[in-house]
Amino acid sequence: MNEHDWAAMADLLELEGAAHDHYLHQAIGQLREHDPLRVLDVGSGPGVAACELAAAFPRAEVTAVDGSAELLARAERRADRLGVRLRTSVAEFPADLAGLPRADLVWSGQTVHHVADQQDALNRLAGLLEPGGVLAIAEGGLPSRWLPRDLGFGRPGLQARLDAAMAEAFDRMRAELPGSVPVVEHWPRLLRAAGLTGTYSKSFLVEHPAPLAEQPRRWVRLWFQRMREALAESLDQDDLTTLDRLLDPDDPDGIDRRADLFLLATKTVHFGRNRP
Ligand SMILES: C[S@@+](CC[C@H](N)C(=O)[O-])C[C@H]1O[C@@H](n2cnc3c(N)ncnc32)[C@H](O)[C@@H]1O
Repeated sequence: MNEHDWAAMADLLELEGAAHDHYLHQAIGQLREHDPLRVLDVGSGPGVAACELAAAFPRAEVTAVDGSAELLARAERRADRLGVRLRTSVAEFPADLAGLPRADLVWSGQTVHHVADQQDALNRLAGLLEPGGVLAIAEGGLPSRWLPRDLGFGRPGLQARLDAAMAEAFDRMRAELPGSVPVVEHWPRLLRAAGLTGTYSKSFLVEHPAPLAEQPRRWVRLWFQRMREALAESLDQDDLTTLDRLLDPDDPDGIDRRADLFLLATKTVHFGRNRP
């Protein structure tokens, strides 16, 4: 596993998945015609996509695969709550991928970028496909938006500066993965290099207008807390003060209470098919 403490991020990951479930509905909708009988969600985390897959394909055996047993336990509880059939399997990537059963559909959301050699990871994921099977990789998209450009305090344009700092942090995260291999992140081309055909990318909009409901608002709070911690060295004092004010539960202009908080996001999924 890499440097993240994934289990400690369980609430963040589950709330994030739920806040973005509209994109999962749409992306999984693209796959309905394939009617898979065996499905793997590789890097499932707390199982939001895995449960959506299990609901969309009730005939299928769906397995959530992750390196974190704690997150998989969470996925099992989610499946019980939602009344869907879900299996789980602990596996470390990329080493344990070869031990997984072949599948008609392999889904992997926001996980390949945590593996040092992304092309190798895609090769191994493609190697799990049955003939004619589909690999769907959620990577990229656009940075999310939550707040007006001018918040009413601090320097306008905070979100653009957060994007820039996050991009730097992402770059550092990739560079620090042991054995990190730089690659042009042209996902359809990487999928073709993994031997897949008919590759394409499609983006899906997630829109929760203001005022944001309680559950996605909790995710925004956790995400801002994470940015405040992760970017403490990268942002200037003005922006850190603005973040502290946004995170103050007693401040009427903080994210817990302000009426203009929204969520606007775009998620991109890259699809490729194994030869029949
Ligand atoms: C950013 S989360 C994505 C969770 C979910 N797929 C989503 O889209 O929200 C990445 C997941 O990949 C798992 N993961 C990351 N690197 C891993 C590795 N090397 N081996 C096994 N699991 C790993 C983590 O435990 C975590 O659940």
